[in-house]
Amino acid sequence: MSVQKPASWIYTEDFLTEPPAVEAARRRGEELGCTPVLPGVGGALRLLAASVQAHTVVEIGTGAGVSALWLLDGMPADGVLTTIDIEAAHHRAARQSFSAAGLAPQRTRIITGQALDVLPRLADGAYDMVVVDGDKREYPAYVEQALRIVRIGGVVAVDNMLWHDKVADPAARDETTTLLRTLGKRLRDDEHLQTTLLPVGDGLLVAVRKA
Ligand SMILES: C[S@@+](CC[C@H](N)C(=O)[O-])C[C@H]1O[C@@H](n2cnc3c(N)ncnc32)[C@H](O)[C@@H]1O
Repeated sequence: MSVQKPASWIYTEDFLTEPPAVEAARRRGEELGCTPVLPGVGGALRLLAASVQAHTVVEIGTGAGVSALWLLDGMPADGVLTTIDIEAAHHRAARQSFSAAGLAPQRTRIITGQALDVLPRLADGAYDMVVVDGDKREYPAYVEQALRIVRIGGVVAVDNMLWHDKVADPAARDETTTLLRTLGKRLRDDEHLQTTLLPVGDGLLVAVRKA
């Protein structure tokens, strides 16, 4: 690898300037101790939402709304984001972020609860895109639900799939790293998916459902 590679990654991460509403949401998220997606991931999520013209998106892990704002920016003006979080305080902060960004209330459906209680109630094949950014230990179960509710041709995006650079390190065998490494390979090898792992932020795995 070229010695310039880390500089290129930093350049990529800073390539897009975060809009002020996203910066403000990031500050709210950091104050609450929930880690927002990095700008490279935000830009990729916006791009994916725009490329599939995502009218219906489900997000697991709202935080204070950073990833949600990027997604909504890429979705059509009448698109609706369903966003799930277990913490009412995070949802209060996200509501502030959405209102400060000038979003109409009907653009978001905010569901406070355990993702694994909420997801089974969502309809099969009804969503254009699903974004996973909740509790890492529950990722395999989120992903199974995501693959059920996303339509054929829709996108599933999973954040933190490089997990602080530990997934790429064969010596790192702690529970979360192993779980995420195994999940990435399971999605890569699924013949019903077109999958890639983007080295933005903490690693964004993207899969398109083929059948
Ligand atoms: C990494 S933060 C999400 C950051 C957000 N995507 C952003 O970019 O601002 C993870 C979020 O998942 C939520 N969470 C954790 N466990 C959950 C669960 N079992 N069900 C739903 N949400 C959960 C946390 O409360 C937290 O807000």
